[in-house]
Amino acid sequence: MIDKIENIKTEVTEYGKQIIDSESLESFRLKFLSRKGLLNDLFEDFKNVDKAQKGAMGKALNELKVIAQKLFDAKQELIQKIDSKSESIKDYTLPGRTFNLGSKHLITQALEDINNIFKSIGFKVADGYEIEDEYHNFDALNTPDYHPSRDMQDTFYLKSDGKDKRYLLRTHTSPAQVHIMKSQKPPVRVIIPGKCYRNEAISARSLSMFHQVEGLYVDKNVTFRELKATLDFFAKEIFGKDLKTRLRPSYFPFTEPSAEMDVECYLCKGKGCRICKYTGWLEILGCGMVDPNVFEHVGYDPEEFTGFAFGMGIERTLMIRHGVPDIRMFYENDIRFLKQF
Ligand code: DAH
Repeated sequence: MIDKIENIKTEVTEYGKQIIDSESLESFRLKFLSRKGLLNDLFEDFKNVDKAQKGAMGKALNELKVIAQKLFDAKQELIQKIDSKSESIKDYTLPGRTFNLGSKHLITQALEDINNIFKSIGFKVADGYEIEDEYHNFDALNTPDYHPSRDMQDTFYLKSDGKDKRYLLRTHTSPAQVHIMKSQKPPVRVIIPGKCYRNEAISARSLSMFHQVEGLYVDKNVTFRELKATLDFFAKEIFGKDLKTRLRPSYFPFTEPSAEMDVECYLCKGKGCRICKYTGWLEILGCGMVDPNVFEHVGYDPEEFTGFAFGMGIERTLMIRHGVPDIRMFYENDIRFLKQF
């Protein structure tokens, strides 16, 4: 038996040298150390050994067991080390991971652009209220109850609080003019960007919420010529120097005279196409000289002061500027659309 032990000892050392990974480690364990392994067989044999030999044999057997176990433990530790190292090995030639940067929404960008253009010529930026009352949204803007222009703007009225005031979601930014003029004396040179609401059937051309920028300039001797020059300057800054603009007579209750500004169609450059309904022009804003009745409401003396005002729809201007075919695209949050700006 002692020879057998010696043979297996040699085998253990030889086999041990071949342990290079967890698979060969496992085969070593199965072959020598497991319950059905060679060492266990030896211990079975040991039961039948003569008493006289038991001492020496037992010692040799135990030595063998310690050698095999130590070898196994050492190799196991080594292999675990190698495995954990290989996990942390990095491939420095892999392309870097890009991360997505957020950016400002197109509407925000446009409002900032418009603010900056008007700031550069001395206008201040102010805020209005999205919830208004009928007085500010209509009456003070020279639009009494019976006035047909109230029908022009389908209004969202809010629940009445039982008092005689009727609250509503503002249908345009113009009521902000009234608040501003009531709170300060001329000269006033201000623009007011913000959201407006109308009870519209939703389509490619209209939504029930949209943005406007209102403009107001009041001082002594403000003329229509200044209005035109200001708006021309704005249009050139926004649309570029190549597109022509024109003023067309129009009607608004709060301005007299009133006009609308058109810009040459970006698509056909004035020749006429489907976008501009074959007129060559696209309407971008309403404007005019502040009606003396409005001045009366806010306590300005119409004999002393004159002023001009204008209001433009932002979505509409953007559609013209970028050729956006459907107003709903601004609010659908489709990343493929938003990423283009
Ligand atoms: N409030 C008008 C609208 O919503 C736009 C407008 C026209 C504003 C003429 C003005 C103005 O300040 O003078 O259609």
